[in-house]
Parts: sequence; structure tokens; C-alpha cells
Amino acid sequence: MSNLIGGFDSPTQAAQLKLVLLQRALSNKIQISKEALALLLQSTNPSSQLEQLIQKVKQNNEFVILPKHFIHFSTPPSKPPQSFKSIEIVHDYITTPPVGNLKDMANYFANRLLQFKKHLQPRLSNLHSIANIQKASNEKMSVIGLVMDKRKTKNGNIVLEVEDLSGVGKVIISRGELLVQADEILYDEVVGITGTASKGVLFAEEITEPDLPVKREPKFTKETAYAAFISDVHVGSKRFLQDNFENMLDFISGKGESILLESQQEIIDNLKYIFVAGDIVDGIGIYPGQEKELSMPNIYAQYKETARLFAKIPEHIQIIACPGNHDYVRLAQPQPPVEREVAPEMYELPNLTFISSPGVVRVRPFENENTALTTLLYHGTSIDTIVPNVSSLKDGYKHPEKVMLSLLKKRHLSPQYASGTVPSAHTSDPMTIPEDIDIIHTGHVHSNGILNYRGVSLINSGTWQGITDFQKFLGHEPTPCRMPVMNLKNRQIKLLSFE
Ligand SMILES: [Fe+2]
Ligand SMILES: [Fe+2]
Repeated sequence: MSNLIGGFDSPTQAAQLKLVLLQRALSNKIQISKEALALLLQSTNPSSQLEQLIQKVKQNNEFVILPKHFIHFSTPPSKPPQSFKSIEIVHDYITTPPVGNLKDMANYFANRLLQFKKHLQPRLSNLHSIANIQKASNEKMSVIGLVMDKRKTKNGNIVLEVEDLSGVGKVIISRGELLVQADEILYDEVVGITGTASKGVLFAEEITEPDLPVKREPKFTKETAYAAFISDVHVGSKRFLQDNFENMLDFISGKGESILLESQQEIIDNLKYIFVAGDIVDGIGIYPGQEKELSMPNIYAQYKETARLFAKIPEHIQIIACPGNHDYVRLAQPQPPVEREVAPEMYELPNLTFISSPGVVRVRPFENENTALTTLLYHGTSIDTIVPNVSSLKDGYKHPEKVMLSLLKKRHLSPQYASGTVPSAHTSDPMTIPEDIDIIHTGHVHSNGILNYRGVSLINSGTWQGITDFQKFLGHEPTPCRMPVMNLKNRQIKLLSFE
């Protein structure tokens, strides 16, 4: 490749690329304006940008790619200066190389299988490849496979089709206690099954999930340090509960007017971090009729107002924020960080770091502190695909912590491949949950939920938005204006109410 803008070698190649891009857009029933095509040709990877633009235009129910749609393809931001590095970004997915073809997709799932095999293998005895199910005659065995299909029979049994690199096999689950566990199995997740193989079927006796090690202890910092968790602020919505939000900001700034308990003063004195799990603003064009619910129908104005509010947070408190489905980034997961061009005023805040969703940061509140706690921020978009598919998690909007626990045991934030996930050509799957994790913070469902499991604190932080007509229609029951705060020294969580 030469150094010409757009990376073309000759005018002929440029013309060919132009044609390919136009054809690709037309095959999606999308047109590209002349100006937008010129911008596209100047980009470093026109094909991948076009895919993202098509997706964005479709999401907005539009038909023409215009220059305005390029807004978030700018250079990633620089990090704010810090005297002492109390946060370290472990995973931040700024760009996601898309899967190019079916072979890439097959590789993606083969990698997923291999990755989870590593967790499952040591815990299974008599491990066989799935092809051996066909050959076995009344033989005890374990297999590790990717769930290709799952169905319930008339008599209440669950039949799985599982696949590994050797082939596809049938698993029947008929035991009562196993059926409860099998109910949570999703398409495309990797499970271990132990049972008896006979006549080409594996009759399951045990289901093993990737999960975390049983004897996993929580980590604690030496000194008291607090982290607060918020999400779904929805600035720009008419239902944004601004007075309550500002009361919270006053509280953490020590400007609250109410008489404080000693324990509350301790929080104010030691609050070091605020994690924000997405839906920072209400966005525009997110759901049908949203324009009627907006107090600010302009995305820049929404982020500018958020910056004004966040500026009230004392500078010694680090704010780490990931995007949600209402933020101005692509919907496909992993969602990249909110970009400087759309939220310039927020980038002026010296204590704010935007990361991707999911994104992982390690926090170490004091310079002399040996323990760092690893926090995974994820907006929680996949909860929408799990609640309708798992009968035991039907109340997942009210109890998001149950869904989070189910995901933690699967060690994957979005196991079921859906159009909302970019499998991507990353060498590792961005949606997997690493073993070295202490806190998982999500939002999206607007309800509080907290649970501790094997040393991990699972926190869904609720919302700062009153219920919308759309949420009423969906049957959601938000718990607005409650903020979980955790003392990292003992990992205890308090729920502060600003209702
Ligand atoms: Fe939200
Ligand atoms: Fe959301």
C-alpha cells in the first residue's frame, strides 16, 4: 500500500473500490451521498467503516449515508493526566475488526470452544470427543461441546445438539434437578456433559459450566476506599430525575444539606471512584416515539449537559464510564467508548475516562496499596436476549443479579450469538468474563440488584430516569435514584437512596 489518502495504489483501484462500496450499500438497500463516499474513500479501512455506517443508518431507519453519520469514527481520545495511576485499563475495545466471511465465523466459534475447553477439561473425567457418542455402547463419558440446538420434548425432557471439532451429538436431559440447570443453557454456549452414551445418544447425569473456581476468596484493599456505581442517567430525557441526581452530586461533594450519619460521612471522605455503566444520555432515535420523551433533542447538547453535571464531582474522584444502547456509539457489542467529537465537554473533565462496553479496569486506590481490584463494566444489553429465553430468569428485569450470575457461570456476557454481537476477528473474545475479576457492574434494566458469588460482587446499579411509556409497555419496574456504594476494604455494599 502507498501512503496516498485512502491507501489506494492507483486511480483504477480507487474506482474499483468505489464500485464495491456502492454495490455493498445497495445490496443493503442503502445509498451513499457523494460527500459521504468521498469521506469513506479517505478512511483507513473503507469496507469495515461502511459496514458500521450501514448498521447505523438502518438503526436510524434512514436510507442514505450522509457525512453526519461519520461523527464517531474519529481518533480515540487521550487519557486524562493523573498524578498517581489509581486506574489501569485492562481491556478497552476501541475498534473491532469485523468477521469477513463464513470461515472467520467458524474460526470464532472454534476459538470459543477451545477457550472454554481449557476451563472445563480439568473438571471432567473420561473425556471423549463428541463423535464417540455414536460409537459408544452403554459407556460412561464426558464431552465438551457448543450448544447448537436446544428443545423441550412433550414429556418435559430437554434435548441438546452439541458440537465439537469431531462432529455433532445428541444429549438428552431427563432428570429433575438437571432440568432446572439445563433450563439456563443458551444457544452457542460451551458446556461439559457427563453421562451414559448409548444408541447414539448421551443421557446426561451431570452438566458442568465453565464457572469460577469454588474456593475463590474475595480481595480487599488495606485501607478504606469507596466506589459508587451508577448507570442509566439518561440526560436529555424529560424523565431524567435531575433534582435527585444533583442531590446525589451535592452529597458526594460534601455539600448536602441533610444531617449525615457518621457512616455517610465516611463515604464522602473516602469515595475514590464512580463507575458509570452506560446510557449516560438518552440519545436520539433509540425507540419509536422517543422524540416526544426528550427534553433535549440534540445529542451534543445532551453530552454537554452531562459534562456540566459531572463537573460537580470532585476531581479526586475518578469517573470511569462505558456506553449503553442509548449512547452515541454503535449498538453492536463490544461498544466502543463514547468519542471526543460527540462529547467534547466531557473530555475536558480531568477525572473522567471513557472505556468500551464491556471494558475492564483495575483500580488501586492508594500508591502504597498492594491489592488492585478488577472491575468489568458492561451495559447489560444481552439481558434482553436472555430473559425471554430462560423460564427460570423470567423475572430478570426485576432481579438482574440473577441474570448476571447465570452469565458469570457461563463466563460469557452474551453467549447467544445474536445480531447485536460482533464476533470480530479479535484473538480473544471480548465478551468472555476473565477469571481475574472482582466486580461486575451492569445497568440497562433500570433496577437495582446485588449479589456476591465466589469473590465477585455483581452489581446492577438502577437508574436516574423515571419510568417511560415504553418501559411501562414492556412491563419494567425501575428503581430510580438509588446508588450502591462499596467499601473496597471489606467489600460491603450500601444502597444510598436519593428518592
Ligand atoms: Fe437505560
Ligand atoms: Fe440500556
